[in-house]
Amino acid sequence: MGEEPITSSYDRPGRHLNFPPDFLWGAATSAYQIEGAWNEDGKGASIWDRFCHTSGRVEGGATGDVACDHYHRYRDDVATMAALGLRAYRFSFAWTRLFPNGDSRPNPAGFDFYRRLIDALREHGIMPVATLYHWDLPQALQDAGGWVNRDTAYRFADYAGRVIEAFGSDVPLWATINEPVLIAFAGHVLGNKAPGTRRFWQVLTIVHHLLLGHGLAVQAFRDIAPRPASDLPEPGIGIVLSVRPSYPATPRPADVRAAQLMDLLTKQLYFAPLFRGHYPPAALTFFRRRLIPLKQQPDDLQIINQPLDFLGLNVYSRALIAARSFNPLISIREVAPTGPTTAMGWEIYPPCLYDVLKLAASYTDIPLYITENGAAFPDQPQPDGTINDQDRIAYLHAHLAEAHRAIADGINLKGYFVWSLLDNFEWEEGYRPRFGLIHVDFKTLQRTWKQSATWYRDVIARNGLRVIGNS
Ligand code: FCB
Repeated sequence: MGEEPITSSYDRPGRHLNFPPDFLWGAATSAYQIEGAWNEDGKGASIWDRFCHTSGRVEGGATGDVACDHYHRYRDDVATMAALGLRAYRFSFAWTRLFPNGDSRPNPAGFDFYRRLIDALREHGIMPVATLYHWDLPQALQDAGGWVNRDTAYRFADYAGRVIEAFGSDVPLWATINEPVLIAFAGHVLGNKAPGTRRFWQVLTIVHHLLLGHGLAVQAFRDIAPRPASDLPEPGIGIVLSVRPSYPATPRPADVRAAQLMDLLTKQLYFAPLFRGHYPPAALTFFRRRLIPLKQQPDDLQIINQPLDFLGLNVYSRALIAARSFNPLISIREVAPTGPTTAMGWEIYPPCLYDVLKLAASYTDIPLYITENGAAFPDQPQPDGTINDQDRIAYLHAHLAEAHRAIADGINLKGYFVWSLLDNFEWEEGYRPRFGLIHVDFKTLQRTWKQSATWYRDVIARNGLRVIGNS
């Protein structure tokens, strides 16, 4: 990290920022990153199992085979959530734990696990918030073409329907897909995430099938129309988008255009079909010029453009974008940040959270949630075992201040989920980046509260932030 303090200019010493009384304070995880038990009790292999078991794909040869062993320790982890005072917990279902081969044959032990997890949350009064797809496609479906194959969208909707039938009443917030942009670009263009292909010419097809799968799953949800358990709100469904605003690296017109192009490909390409029922014409022109086809059927955009009950936004950083002249496919490049960064190399720029909420509010007035926000830092346990992660506290504080600013400006933000509850498996970067409020010793699997966990507990308890540096 650099020397500059992490602050939000909205924040003032001595000023308390109180959140609305029903604000949903949560923390988030995903199945592959924490569960472990990768092949236990009938679970089938996902593309992440395959990716990690292929040498050279993940830093240090790490895998999610054991991860945080949450599959066996979920009870203790839920007790930790209760001690933090979490009102909600966002987790994801592992598709291959429920349907090992991605077909219609269920694995009862998998259903049993999520039943026990949800019951444990409910016993502690913690609202379950479930993601149906956080990147772990059944390998069997990948072998049949994965998201390049239109049929995967239908398989996803079938799976979603079965899970909604089983757990619909106990889960008030359902997210279909986590971050389609990352699945499409990191998974299939850059190839640094599973399934790890590099086929730029397939990217639009993949985006389209992901959005179609989302729309079909929303239709399945509406058909099933789960009734809420007596003490829970009406269940609703939405999607989780990752939004990293692009800013031009310089005011030069070429850089401004490059930043606009980046926004077009990473944001409008998703927001426009989901909320306006069409792909942005400029994006279609961009792909057409590169001979990249979009194969769609007449009703697809109507299916994609379903009314949603909420929108989840994952916000971590911004991108500084400049023009690049010599690449015929993409004439944009990302410029290294000049300000402070996290252990991921991501710039710490709290106003981006406000900007993302503003952008979302320009498309829709449904309730918004920050479904992920957080930071990896090289946490060093002290000799006495304590972890004084002031940098994470400052990061979270500054971003929450921006969330408050958005609410004060009338934006319909209903909740906030820290990424993450636990240090966990950070995809291709293995276990090096630590995002947790709770430290995990990956040799002993022992959990230890960081200072940020105590801080977040106090934020929740007082429903807001106190003066900076001493919130
Ligand atoms: C997001 C992912 C999440 C986690 C964070 C750091 O893109 O949704 O699983 O890895 O980044």
